[in-house]
Amino acid sequence: MTARVIICCGSGGVGKTTVSAALAISLARSGQRVAVLTIDPARRLADSLGIGSLGNTARRVPLERIDPDCTGSLDAMMLDAKATFDDLIRRVSPSPGAADRILANHYYRFASQRLGGSHEYMAMEKLLDLWQTGPYDVIVLDTPPTRHALDFIKAPDRMAGLFDQGVMRWLVMPATQGGWRALELGSEVVAKVLKRFLGRGTIAEIADFFEDFRDLWDGFTERSKRVKALLADPATRFLLVSAPARAAQVEALYFLDVLNQRKLPFGGFVINRVVEAPAHPPSATALRAAMPPDGPTAADRWAEICAGVAQAPAQRQALAEAHARQVAALKAAGPVGAPCWLIPDQDRDLHDLADLAELGPYLPS
Ligand SMILES: Nc1ncnc2c1ncn2[C@@H]1O[C@H](COP(=O)(O)OP(=O)(O)OP(=O)(O)O)[C@@H](O)[C@H]1O
Ligand SMILES: [Mg+2]
Repeated sequence: MTARVIICCGSGGVGKTTVSAALAISLARSGQRVAVLTIDPARRLADSLGIGSLGNTARRVPLERIDPDCTGSLDAMMLDAKATFDDLIRRVSPSPGAADRILANHYYRFASQRLGGSHEYMAMEKLLDLWQTGPYDVIVLDTPPTRHALDFIKAPDRMAGLFDQGVMRWLVMPATQGGWRALELGSEVVAKVLKRFLGRGTIAEIADFFEDFRDLWDGFTERSKRVKALLADPATRFLLVSAPARAAQVEALYFLDVLNQRKLPFGGFVINRVVEAPAHPPSATALRAAMPPDGPTAADRWAEICAGVAQAPAQRQALAEAHARQVAALKAAGPVGAPCWLIPDQDRDLHDLADLAELGPYLPS
């Protein structure tokens, strides 16, 4: 798969972060300069990637520990939505002074963390930043567990829309024209109530924030357009990470619909944690023969254990068959010939570089 940007999406807990990290390692080992932007990685995974407490700062992952001949490189980071928002403000502010005023504003500090969809949008914003400024062949983007797939793809639109809406215009209107600032002057009932609840200082601060923000509109709108263009770029691929379970697949197909509607480039399905059929299931008799019990008293108990162990492969076989049916159903429901990568369930949490590198052969190259 030749792509400059790979975005791993999917419902909560299917393995987006694991797949993003494993894919980034695998691409770096194939000789490329790779960056991976992870979202809320598990603590041990973050530590293995060397990004434990560093947030937005890119850290070189010590791939030589697992592959001394590795010719590529991998920089990893963990999204810090607040720091990304601050960087964005600095980038689109008309002057450093204006940026400082906004960044110091209490209302901004509150809004930047609670604005609906801002986490999703900041992931996109950081992606654009890396794409424009980083020396990378490929950028792999993990995505946050959004309530709904749509939230993520809609984020740039929602951000741009927010700054276009009439209410924002009202908020930044000068007091003399009856905007938000007029609350400072007026004696209207609304103003009085608001002042009682929020305090005069808060209203003034909110008004200052929106006034400073007015100058940022164009910059924001421009960035949102670029983010949208990057998502739709022919060198971008959305990988839909799923699980061999019906709920996750319904979500993946819904996501695929959203991609199609928005003409965003679908790269294929990654079905994670697929259970494989046991190669040579041992029989109870074979188990008994291989490991006889120590003494006569243990014989009954031992027979019981052997019978239980011998049943386990049958259960695993049934699970493997169920998973194979789910995989076939997803393939049949997806576009004809859509790429589909299957990752076996590793039967343990995957946290260190060596664990992640083991997934390489199952991932796009
Ligand atoms: N193939 C696999 N085999 C075994 N364990 C796996 C596999 N893939 C992922 N896991 C484990 O599943 C758990 C969830 O994975 P991960 O955090 O990557 O999911 P996620 O989709 O990013 O979750 P969230 O939606 O919360 O961000 C982790 O503990 C991870 O180690
Ligand atoms: Mg995750």
